[in-house]
Amino acid sequence: MIPAMTPSWVHDYLRRIGASWQGKGVAIELGSWLGATAVPLLEGLREAGYNKPFYAYDRWEANREQVRKAREQGVKITNKQDLLPLFQDNVLNDDIRVFCQKGNISGTLKWPSNTPVEICLFDAPKQNPIFEHAVRQLGPSFIPDVTVWGLLDYYWHRDRPTEKKREAARVPVRFINRYHQNFSLMAEWGHSCACAFFRYRGGVDWENVEVS
Ligand SMILES: C[S@@+](CC[C@H](N)C(=O)[O-])C[C@H]1O[C@@H](n2cnc3c(N)ncnc32)[C@H](O)[C@@H]1O
Repeated sequence: MIPAMTPSWVHDYLRRIGASWQGKGVAIELGSWLGATAVPLLEGLREAGYNKPFYAYDRWEANREQVRKAREQGVKITNKQDLLPLFQDNVLNDDIRVFCQKGNISGTLKWPSNTPVEICLFDAPKQNPIFEHAVRQLGPSFIPDVTVWGLLDYYWHRDRPTEKKREAARVPVRFINRYHQNFSLMAEWGHSCACAFFRYRGGVDWENVEVS
């Protein structure tokens, strides 16, 4: 079993999202950790005949919180461990090439504007400046009425201990509120988890997009 930071029903949903791939763009995940979300998404994509690389971005360097979360789920990792080999083992498959970009997303994510993005998971970007960087890089490649944007920590602000921290963690919520005409809610699970999925409807002026 792969240690996860997301519940099993989100994994089931990701499998369905992958299986509904329309062939219009690539799938990408920012913040893959050990693959608990990438694996079901890839299973769905395989079912849909996905024939492009899957893009995964992470530091893949264990910190103490990750060590604790993995231990609670029966897997031993150590502080500062390079987690990329574990991730690669978990996502390994014959059909889909998984492109892994290791390092800080603020520096590593430079998305070519001619590569449309059909499925986009944010599980690392949840505050600025990284959320803004990721939106500016990937937003222009979103496909109107197609792209599924999974914000896996959309409601993370609820768990933050102080109002200042909650305010900082509301960046994704403020973004969706500001652009509510451009995104429609596909799924969320109330207070049982922090994830929310949106469909891009088009119409964002990405060059002048506001992310604050
Ligand atoms: C919540 S975990 C992902 C969990 C995984 N999606 C799951 O559900 O099991 C967030 C991941 O984002 C990565 N991360 C956070 N900030 C990052 C950054 N600035 N650059 C690269 N990776 C980052 C962490 O290393 C961690 O693996």
